[in-house]
Amino acid sequence: MSSSASVSAASTLDSLSQPSELPSETQNQELENLKRHVAEGLRRPQKTLSSMYFYDDEGSRLFQQIMALPEYYPTRTEFQLFTRHQSALATALRPTATQEPFFLLELGAGDGLKTKILLRHLLETNATFTYVPVDISEAALEGLAASLGEELPELRVEPIVADYSEALRLMAARPGRKVVLFLGSNIGNFLPPDRLTFLRNLAAPLSPNDRLLIGFDLQKNPRTIRAAYDDAQGVTAAFNLNLLARLNRELGADFDLAHWQHYTDYDPLAGAVRSYLVSTRTQAVHISALNQSFQFAAWETIHTENSYKFTAPQIKALAAEAGLSVTEFFTDEQNYFADVVLRPA
Ligand code: AVI
Repeated sequence: MSSSASVSAASTLDSLSQPSELPSETQNQELENLKRHVAEGLRRPQKTLSSMYFYDDEGSRLFQQIMALPEYYPTRTEFQLFTRHQSALATALRPTATQEPFFLLELGAGDGLKTKILLRHLLETNATFTYVPVDISEAALEGLAASLGEELPELRVEPIVADYSEALRLMAARPGRKVVLFLGSNIGNFLPPDRLTFLRNLAAPLSPNDRLLIGFDLQKNPRTIRAAYDDAQGVTAAFNLNLLARLNRELGADFDLAHWQHYTDYDPLAGAVRSYLVSTRTQAVHISALNQSFQFAAWETIHTENSYKFTAPQIKALAAEAGLSVTEFFTDEQNYFADVVLRPA
């Protein structure tokens, strides 16, 4: 499929063509997953909802705004890293000097702003490859496919709407050389055991000439980190609160957003930002799709996100545990962010 072609869902090719009043099987399944997740997460003593559900179309739009915030340094820094090291990055991702075609898969592609730097460089150096951006937001992928069609019309693009586990299955099933991009410190949103499992699954189908490029946010001044998740304009707060608005929209919940707050903190000991939604008063919330009400005490929290930050030794140790080795470690002058090229060990 060329870049002008429409985005395809992982398991069906027709999700875009489904009228919204006739939900597809995939959409039904997604709704069932969300229902199960919410029922289970709000029943726990520490209530919790996964940040995976931040990214409906509205959440993806808000995340685009976050990436442009002055306090949110990761995107800007990784963009600068890509600009500065594009040639070395492209070389590290093409270990053999052959013209062997490859698939460039990007998990959680979003708007592909950083990736376009690499894509342009690869095209200019006559690499033969197909770009496969994978994202759970159909709207984000549609936007990306449209912009690629305009900016890089010669690029072969096969966008896929899928979550990470689906993307891993698709990747393993695809024959041929693969380069997998996992940028933006998305890796930081996994809990440590899930992170290791994910990386092992990512590493397992790789052949010796395949490569992974992973973006890691590095540990730094705790105040710099905390500010990135608590911006002055309140965009991150709106992003977190959108999770409740999404439950109102999709599950017929009656969260009153006037009585919820965004709260976040960085714990240097764990190297993790933890974000919460805080109930500012005693309240009950009814969720129609679950036919159930949930009680919240005043100042009770729902934990919604972890954003881990790493050190270089931690990254090397993690790679080794996952059956990978580091071939290149690109970082910026301030040591804020690292883009790490990995190969099967
Ligand atoms: C997508 N992910 C890497 C972002 C992060 O920094 O953890 C999501 C985010 N949450 C709040 N701000 C940005």
